[in-house]
Amino acid sequence: MKTVITYGTFDLLHYGHVRLLKRAKALGDYLIVGLSTDEFNSMKKHKESYNDYAERKYILEAIKYVDKVIPEKDWNQKIADVKKYHVDTFVMGSDWEGQFDFLKPYCKVVYLPRTPGISTSKIKEDLR
Ligand code: CTP
Repeated sequence: MKTVITYGTFDLLHYGHVRLLKRAKALGDYLIVGLSTDEFNSMKKHKESYNDYAERKYILEAIKYVDKVIPEKDWNQKIADVKKYHVDTFVMGSDWEGQFDFLKPYCKVVYLPRTPGISTSKIKEDLR
């Protein structure tokens, strides 16, 4: 069984998120999402989500491509997660290109092209 992991905030879950999750799952058999906690978002990523952690987790768990959701509390937990969950492939969108190459000694690292024209920030702006 091949395990894939990806990370993000996945606030106001949208088409671009689902496309990312579908393509990530297709790279293996079991998809884990490291979901940024509310504290990690506000303290480290300097963003405030509309849906809180419990709501974002609930929504992600309803997506058929997602097998498990774990909390992302820190930038530095990825190597430990990859080891703990025996991850074969780490996936992120192309906005993160190159930034996680330090994981290459531990697993495959794949950057998938972002879906153009949509983001949580854009949804918030458009609705404002
Ligand atoms: N993603 C994607 N295509 C989009 C938007 C996001 O493939 N149009 C991917 C990101 O590259 C990342 C994952 O979805 O791997 C989670 O991204 P996240 O930052 O939570 O979503 P964004 O919509 O980019 O949120 P924001 O606007 O707040 O940055």
